[in-house]
Amino acid sequence: MEEQQKSGHLVLVMAPFQGHLTPMLQLATILHSKGFSITIVHPELNSLNPSNHPEFTFVSILDKIKESQLSDEDLADKLKESLVSNVDVAGSLQSLHKNCEAPLQKCLENILHSHHHIAAVIYDTLMFCAQTIVNELGIPGITLRTSSATTMLLFSVLPQLGEKELMSGIESPELQALQLQRLRALIVQNPTQAMMEVRAAFTNAIKFSSAIIVNSMEFLELEALSKVRQYFPTPIFTVGPLHKLAPAICCSLLTEDDKCISWLNKQAPKSVIYVSFGSIAIIDKQELIETAWGLSNSKQPFLWVVRPGMVCGSEWIESLPNGFEESVGERGCIVKWAPQKEVLAHAAVGGFWSHCGWNSTIESICEGVPMLCRPFFGDQLLNSNYICNVWKIGLELQNLERGNTVRTIKRLMVDMEGKDIRKRAMDLKKKAALRLMEDGSTSCSFNGLIKQISV
Ligand code: UDX
Repeated sequence: MEEQQKSGHLVLVMAPFQGHLTPMLQLATILHSKGFSITIVHPELNSLNPSNHPEFTFVSILDKIKESQLSDEDLADKLKESLVSNVDVAGSLQSLHKNCEAPLQKCLENILHSHHHIAAVIYDTLMFCAQTIVNELGIPGITLRTSSATTMLLFSVLPQLGEKELMSGIESPELQALQLQRLRALIVQNPTQAMMEVRAAFTNAIKFSSAIIVNSMEFLELEALSKVRQYFPTPIFTVGPLHKLAPAICCSLLTEDDKCISWLNKQAPKSVIYVSFGSIAIIDKQELIETAWGLSNSKQPFLWVVRPGMVCGSEWIESLPNGFEESVGERGCIVKWAPQKEVLAHAAVGGFWSHCGWNSTIESICEGVPMLCRPFFGDQLLNSNYICNVWKIGLELQNLERGNTVRTIKRLMVDMEGKDIRKRAMDLKKKAALRLMEDGSTSCSFNGLIKQISV
C-alpha cells in the first residue's frame, strides 16, 4: 500500500498475548500505510522489540504484572480450564486491568498533552478499561475484536437473553449449526462475581465504542454479524484477513524455526499434516503421548509445534514415549515455533490439526487448508463449530485416543470425504482472495473505517 500524506495520529492499545498482538500490529501497519502516524501502547508483559518496527512509537505501560505474579503460565493454566470447568479466568483478566488501568490513563494523558490531536484510540477488546479512560478524556474509542464477530453475540448478547428470546434469536440454520445454546449454557453456569464483572465491562466497551473493527470477512459469519448489528448499533468494520494485507510483518514472541521449511520441501504435495495448538493451550503428558502415537500410527508425514512449557511438568519433548522417534524417523518434524503462515501456504501441507484459535482459523482458510479440530477453551469451541458444521472445511477430533486419531487423519487426508472437504476449503480460499482484490469488500471496509476515524 502506498504511503500517503499523514492523515492523523492514532494510539493503539495492545493486549499482551500472541493471538492478540499479531492482528493489532497488522492493523497498525495497514493504517500507517494509509497515512496515519501510530503510537502503540502496550503492557510490559510479552512486549515486542520496538527496533523491529521503527515506523511506530512504542510506549510501555508500567504494569508490574511480573511482580504481581500474573505470569503467562498462570494465566495459561486458568485459560485452559475456563469454559470447560468454569475456573475463573475472569479473575486473571481483572488483575491485568487492575495493573494496567492507572498507568494506561497516565500514558494516554501524556500522549494527549504532547499531541494537538488524537484521531482515535484503537484498543483490543480485551483491554476494555481503555474505553472508560477515553470516555473521560473525550477521545473516540474504537475496539478491535481479534476473534470472530460471533464472540460478541456469544459472550455479550446471549447471556443476557431469557429462554424465549434466546430460542427466537438463534433460529437460523447457521446459528443452529453453531450450537450457541450449548456454548451459552457453559458460559452462564455458576458465574463468579469476577466473570459477571468482566462480561459487563467487555459488553460496555463494545457498546460505548465509536466503532468495532473485526478481523473477519463478512461472508464467513453473515447471520451472526446481522444479529450483532441488531444488538449493537455501533458501526462494525470487517477488515480481515489482516495478515494478507500486512504480510511482511513478523511479530512472533518465540523464535521461528525455519528448518521445518527445508523439511517440508522434501515432502510430497498435500501429504503433511501440520499440528499446532497456538500460543496458550497446554496439554498433559498423557495427551502428548496419545497425540504422538496417533501421528506415528497414521503413517502420514507431520510437522508438529511443541512450545517449550506446553506440556505440563516438562520443559519440552522429553516426555515423548520410548520408541516414538524410531518409529517416525524422517517422517516427522517437531519444532518449538514455526513460521505458521509460510507453513500453511506450503504445497506439501495438506491438513492442519489445530486448536482453532481465530488467527489460525483465518490463516488456514486463506490457504485452503482443511482442518482437524481439537479446541481447548473459549472462542475455540465456537470456531470449531464454524469449521466443522457451517463452512464444513474440517473434522472434529472428538477424542485423543490414538486409534480415533488415526481414523480421523485418514478421513481428512486420504478418504473421499476428505476430498470433498478440501474442495470446500479451496472454494473458501477463493472467496477470501476475491475479497482482497483492489476494490473488494476489505478495501471498502477500510475506507469506511478511515472515514469514521476522520469524522
Ligand atoms: C488466543 C486464543 O487461543 C484464541 O482462541 C483467540 O482467538 C486468540 O487468542 P492463540 O492460542 O494464540 O490465540 O491462537 P491463534 O489465534 O490461532 O493465534 C496464534 C498465532 O500464532 C497465529 O497467528 C499463528 O500464525 C502464530 N503461530 C502459531 C506461529 O506463528 N507459529 C507457531 O508455531 C504457532
